[in-house]
Amino acid sequence: MTSDPAGRPIRTFHPRRGRMSNRHADAFAEQWPRLGLTVIDGDRTPLDLAELFGRDAPRVLEIGFGMGESTAEMAAADPGRDHLGVEVHTPGIGNLLALVAERRLTNVRVAHGDAMELVRRLPAGSLDAVHSFFPDPWPKARHHKRRLISPGNVALLRERLRPGGTLHCATDWAHYAEAMRETLDGDTGLVNAYGGYAPRPGHRPRTKFEDRGVRAGREIFDLVYRRR
Ligand SMILES: C[S@@+](CC[C@H](N)C(=O)[O-])C[C@H]1O[C@@H](n2cnc3c(N)ncnc32)[C@H](O)[C@@H]1O
Repeated sequence: MTSDPAGRPIRTFHPRRGRMSNRHADAFAEQWPRLGLTVIDGDRTPLDLAELFGRDAPRVLEIGFGMGESTAEMAAADPGRDHLGVEVHTPGIGNLLALVAERRLTNVRVAHGDAMELVRRLPAGSLDAVHSFFPDPWPKARHHKRRLISPGNVALLRERLRPGGTLHCATDWAHYAEAMRETLDGDTGLVNAYGGYAPRPGHRPRTKFEDRGVRAGREIFDLVYRRR
């Protein structure tokens, strides 16, 4: 994580309070002990993913899953891989826990906290894919340092991927898409799988953030890079 001149960490998110519905609160109470993982800032204890999932299968990390629709949908369509979602927004966590229970998914685990703190605890080469769909765009220039897709974060994510593993990002902010491409192209350990923007993959479900961008007339950009 990068830090400001005073040494305070620069976050990719603003903590915000959200209301938990009864459905979310029930899901939390029932599913969190089974499926949840609390990310503690500064904790560097290596995470045993085989123990977390109860099996050894290829793993997908989804950063900032929002309400978790895409995590649940993709995990349901992909039973051979395990999906670890990480989010800071608690109603979204409650929603994903509810979706997992309703759909009886066994290949999803849910982490609460800062994604990059979690990533630091993952072994090198332990991920088959990393997904970052519609990360906060931080459109103002003075906030660009908060963007998730920064050279330092990308280097760390790439190192956690297995060789040949993919980093898949999507955004509806053209300027962020360009900046992502520049950052991802600049990482010599990654190769652009499509040589440019990727065609929208059918396996990426539409979320309300994507719909909002489309309704506002914005173009959607997918970027898929492979670890060399
Ligand atoms: C614009 S939303 C997109 C949500 C979802 N991917 C979608 O497409 O609907 C970005 C999400 O990323 C989360 N987020 C931002 N930085 C994060 C971080 N460092 N760790 C975990 N979640 C993060 C925010 O809380 C927010 O829910």
